[in-house]
Amino acid sequence: MNFTIVYATATGHSENIAERLHQLIPCSELKDLDYIDQTKNLTAAEALICCIPTWNTGALEKRSGTSWDQHLENIRGLDFSNTVVAIVGLGDSAAFGKYFCDAMEELYTAFVKAGATMIGQVPIDDYIFDFSKSNIDGLFCGLPIDEDNESEKTEGRLSQWVAQITSQV
Ligand SMILES: Cc1cc2nc3c(=O)[nH]c(=O)nc-3n(C[C@H](O)[C@H](O)[C@H](O)COP(=O)(O)O)c2cc1C
Repeated sequence: MNFTIVYATATGHSENIAERLHQLIPCSELKDLDYIDQTKNLTAAEALICCIPTWNTGALEKRSGTSWDQHLENIRGLDFSNTVVAIVGLGDSAAFGKYFCDAMEELYTAFVKAGATMIGQVPIDDYIFDFSKSNIDGLFCGLPIDEDNESEKTEGRLSQWVAQITSQV
């Protein structure tokens, strides 16, 4: 299966993680969401990996604060039933431990509504945080990455997760 890795970023962490995933996954494509003008272009992908940071702390809607927020409503109204989707959330579990990677869940729920097959959920056990909207019944709905506090764990988390998602498709 061919993966298309799409990222939006404010300070570069999500872009860096997307590039590292691109290195780890043969036959993957890398795209900056800012250069995708129509949300429906995303439906052409066989499998999507969406890298999304959280900036709008505590917000109910438009939690990312990046261009993902402008695509959410369109995603909900499109048909992603032929697309497999995995999400990577960038966040800070120390300074924003009550809102850790909250934007992941908003994007996850949008793709669920659009009929996508969601993969890449991970156990919460490896993370220290107070609360996260992305914790759904004891599993994060995607892979949280914390470059602000735990960058030493990122390499292991990425390689383990790539093994997981490539075995799930
Ligand atoms: C003002 C501000 C608000 C933030 N809000 C959150 C938050 O609510 N939850 C979270 O997990 N991280 C939060 N972060 C941390 C960023 O999401 C984190 O640094 C991330 O790696 C940024 O990714 P980017 O470089 O791709 O934009 C915040 C950071 C700042 C400076």
